[in-house]
Amino acid sequence: MIRLKKLARAASALTTPLTPEDFLALFNPVYSSRQLRGVVSRVVHETEDSATIYFHPGHGWHAHKAGQWARIGVELDGVRHWRSYSLSTAAGHDPAITVKDAGAVSHVLVRDTKPGDILFLAPPQGDFVLPEHPRSLLMLTAGSGITPVMSMIRTLIPRRPDANVVLINSNSTPEKSLFREELDELADQFSNLTVRHWFTSARGRLEFTAKTIADLCPDWRSRAAYACGPEGFLNNAEELWQREAALETASTMPGLSSGAGTQAATTGTLTIERFSTDLLTGAGHDGGLVTFEQSDREVQADGDTPLLDIGEDAGVLMPSGCRMGICHSCLIPLRAGQVRDLRTGELHNNPGQLIQTCVSAAAGPVNLDL
Ligand SMILES: Cc1cc2nc3c(=O)[nH]c(=O)nc-3n(C[C@H](O)[C@H](O)[C@H](O)COP(=O)(O)OP(=O)(O)OC[C@H]3O[C@@H](n4cnc5c(N)ncnc54)[C@H](O)[C@@H]3O)c2cc1C
Ligand code: FES
Repeated sequence: MIRLKKLARAASALTTPLTPEDFLALFNPVYSSRQLRGVVSRVVHETEDSATIYFHPGHGWHAHKAGQWARIGVELDGVRHWRSYSLSTAAGHDPAITVKDAGAVSHVLVRDTKPGDILFLAPPQGDFVLPEHPRSLLMLTAGSGITPVMSMIRTLIPRRPDANVVLINSNSTPEKSLFREELDELADQFSNLTVRHWFTSARGRLEFTAKTIADLCPDWRSRAAYACGPEGFLNNAEELWQREAALETASTMPGLSSGAGTQAATTGTLTIERFSTDLLTGAGHDGGLVTFEQSDREVQADGDTPLLDIGEDAGVLMPSGCRMGICHSCLIPLRAGQVRDLRTGELHNNPGQLIQTCVSAAAGPVNLDL
């Protein structure tokens, strides 16, 4: 690093109008003091619409914990777009993301990325990680939701004979099931992993009821559960865990006997990772005039469009990350006015309150500290 700094100083004296960073980037494309980058080392096409992209990150990256994700920036028509992707490799290994072609950015990542390409990066983050102390785990995944769990399985299973993991993995068909062969091989090789595939083309949607889960994993209640997949899948799992918790609370209340459906064992925790969020857009709510005070911009906004999009379209430099209300990178103080949380419909109007611009829309005039 010291050598790089000296080089940067020398380059500064030699180069104009290129900045020292531009000059160094000619020799080392992942070097930039302003923006963390990575160079793509390998691309593996996993299914017809998904690929794993391995990359060597530059200075500023730190090793990921199994289950964490990183923001990846891609330039489309000269505009940099950021999206979040779980790191699918084991902790301690070179990072990779496994992407499903689902829209503008993922399409380019899956279809066009090749070794040598540069990715813009932010360091790994996220709390969807393995528990500190080993215990029995139940993983519930669907579609590309397997990616963070794959990192956990790759990290845990070969190294920890005392681990005990049951994976219930739902996909439409075997061909669309990411990492299916590797998972089956791991389950054959290591007795601490059990894999239950569920193919919806053959069995229909996997509905989470106490019975369906017990059929797939009889001791599910005693396990710490982790779930990642589409919204409907996660909501369904969450409802089951909530129902079970309510039944357990009711059964322990004085004067109430344990009825049918109540259980002796306490249901374990359910930890969820969401890749997307349902927003209440299209409801036709009234918007208002949005003032970006520091940027000296005013824009008339409707009541359905996130303030993040409104600001970006107006040329305001907006902090952002997941764009789905998950990472809190977009938090900014509300100076005055009122916003609606597009996930819940809740209104917020306390001056100084931090709001998430990616999931908040104007609900009347709004002044933002940006
Ligand atoms: C913490 C986190 C981790 C993530 N990890 C991964 C990952 O490992 N692999 C991955 O492929 N995606 C992952 N995503 C989703 C990813 O960030 C993008 O949202 C996704 O690639 C779509 O972006 P896009 O620009 O291609 O689509 P856009 O043009 O922005 O369109 C987005 C649409 O795609 C839907 N969508 C988002 N993700 C998916 C998905 N995985 N499958 C199907 N539809 C989707 C959204 O609901 C929305 O309707 C993750 C998201 C978060 C917040
Ligand atoms: S950008 Fe992640 S919460 Fe808003």
